[in-house]
Amino acid sequence: MNDLLAVWKGEELKYQHPVVEALRQVEGADVYESLRSILIEGVRAIQVGETREGVWRFSLRFPPQWSGGYALPLLFQRVGEEDGRKIVLIWTNFPEPLAKIHSLMKQKEVIASSALQILDSVSKNIINESSAKVAAQRILEKFSELLGARAAIMRLFQRGRWAHYASYGLPSTYLSHYHEVYIETVPLYRRLFQQQRLQITDQVTDMGAMGAELSRVVNPLSMVVSVPLIKNKTVRGFISLAFDEPKPVLYYMTEVLENFANEFAFILEKNEYYLYIVETSERLKKMNLDIVTSLVNATETRDSYTTGHSERVSTYAVELARHLHWDDYEIEKLSIAALLHDIGKVGIPDAILLKPLPLNDMEYSIMQMHPEFSANIVAKVENLHDIVPWIRFHHEYVDGSGYPYGLKGNDIPLGARVLAVADAFDAMTSDRPYRKALQLDQVEEILRQGAGKQWDAAIVELAIRYLDVIYERESFLKENRLDHFRKMMFRLNLLNGLYLFEYLHEEAENLVLNNIEFVFGMLKLPSSVHSLPLASKKKLVSILTEVIKKHVHYPVLVARKSYLFFAFLAPQYDRQLLHNQLKTVAYQFYERTDVLPDFAAYEYPLEKHILPDVFDNFSHFKKDA
Ligand SMILES: [Fe+2]
Ligand SMILES: [Fe+2]
Repeated sequence: MNDLLAVWKGEELKYQHPVVEALRQVEGADVYESLRSILIEGVRAIQVGETREGVWRFSLRFPPQWSGGYALPLLFQRVGEEDGRKIVLIWTNFPEPLAKIHSLMKQKEVIASSALQILDSVSKNIINESSAKVAAQRILEKFSELLGARAAIMRLFQRGRWAHYASYGLPSTYLSHYHEVYIETVPLYRRLFQQQRLQITDQVTDMGAMGAELSRVVNPLSMVVSVPLIKNKTVRGFISLAFDEPKPVLYYMTEVLENFANEFAFILEKNEYYLYIVETSERLKKMNLDIVTSLVNATETRDSYTTGHSERVSTYAVELARHLHWDDYEIEKLSIAALLHDIGKVGIPDAILLKPLPLNDMEYSIMQMHPEFSANIVAKVENLHDIVPWIRFHHEYVDGSGYPYGLKGNDIPLGARVLAVADAFDAMTSDRPYRKALQLDQVEEILRQGAGKQWDAAIVELAIRYLDVIYERESFLKENRLDHFRKMMFRLNLLNGLYLFEYLHEEAENLVLNNIEFVFGMLKLPSSVHSLPLASKKKLVSILTEVIKKHVHYPVLVARKSYLFFAFLAPQYDRQLLHNQLKTVAYQFYERTDVLPDFAAYEYPLEKHILPDVFDNFSHFKKDA
């Protein structure tokens, strides 16, 4: 059944079926013009009374670029003449293509509105995605489902190539093989890049070498649609969709798809930027913290007893601040303050910082300058100004008897009061040169006694309640071998290579305090040596030192107590063994010098009354900084 397509009179179109106008709107002016030129041609050629069918067949393609479509048989019927002008009726069979056009238009609307929904939900949820890539993946998946695509890929233009960014429905072998493709090797991509417009193809050859593998993944490969992602009038990338059956509607969706792609690119970029900011600031933050930590570790390396101290203080301070309900930002600042609180110890000379013996008053007053040194160092960092007072006052006591300023109570900033408790907790639970780590119940006792005097009572309460758990959870750094040797350097007299007498004395006192058996001894030159000239005395002492070093070895420790007196100490050693060694030394020395030293070996506790002769009287030493 034919419809009247048009009525032609002379050179004018007197009537046209509404679908002709619809065609013009849907397919564009080209289609309309080509239909019109066929009509004119047909009208010119037809004779009066003649009816011709199918001679001027108009191929109406839905869509025009597509090889499928409809050929419309046109029927020309010349019905007469008026004023010398032909009247021609043109008939054709319309219902089928008309219905097709309508259904395509309907599909287009549905897809367009769904695409909008996808974009909307994506822009709302994209911030939750772990990365822009994951978001892109999600969107490709949804979009492929909506359009009925079997596979999709998003590529970004990088260094002259299209690099894979996200994909859907493509196996990893394909992705690794075609991770990057050169712009020239895929005709479809090249056209897209040049024209900056959406491209559709149903020719596998348009996909270049990649086409063969793609048609194994999407089989049969019926159509590929590539939509450019354009920014600043440049194609930055594209989304490509592969279909296993023809989707004519896509030919009518150029604009919708292009808008979709641009909107998507915009959201993605925004999100990528957002994620970039978040990641970068996290990275920077971590880097800063790493720098601070390594700086602190570097300074703590000088003194084995404080290795890891600042990091532990930081852990304790953070825990206390949490229970004081500080916000995250303040807690972060406090943790940095804790890391840096003793950094000023770099300004304390080794002779004081590493001294294994009690500090004298002068040394102690220099030691007390470290909070001020720390504060001055940190004050140089613009972003750390807030924490300077916490650091400066971490050795102040709430009763005003602390240092360096003798501040009282709430005049001491809260941060400093928290640091003081965290600092003391770590000091007490760590080994010190002059004592072993205290037990937690001893620590609790000391904290309670100092509450309201040395420390803020409320913070002490929190420390007693919560820090033991942290203490037991963390396995902290303890002394290592390197520290042991470094310590040794301070215990040796570098001129004669023997131990410092003070060290031997301290060791002996420790052994006594800890009830450990040991052997000790002495070797001294006869008093007649006193009257010799200084040069001769020096000569004798240096020969004796040489002989001792040759015959007495670890674990026997040797120190020179006075000019002519050498002391020996060996924990859990054999008295006879030491005696024999001393005898060897004496005779060797005698052979070289004709001077025979006195010597004797003793054991503790059996001969403890001799101890003062060798080591002087023991006193309990004190050293707290
Ligand atoms: Fe300190
Ligand atoms: Fe400290």
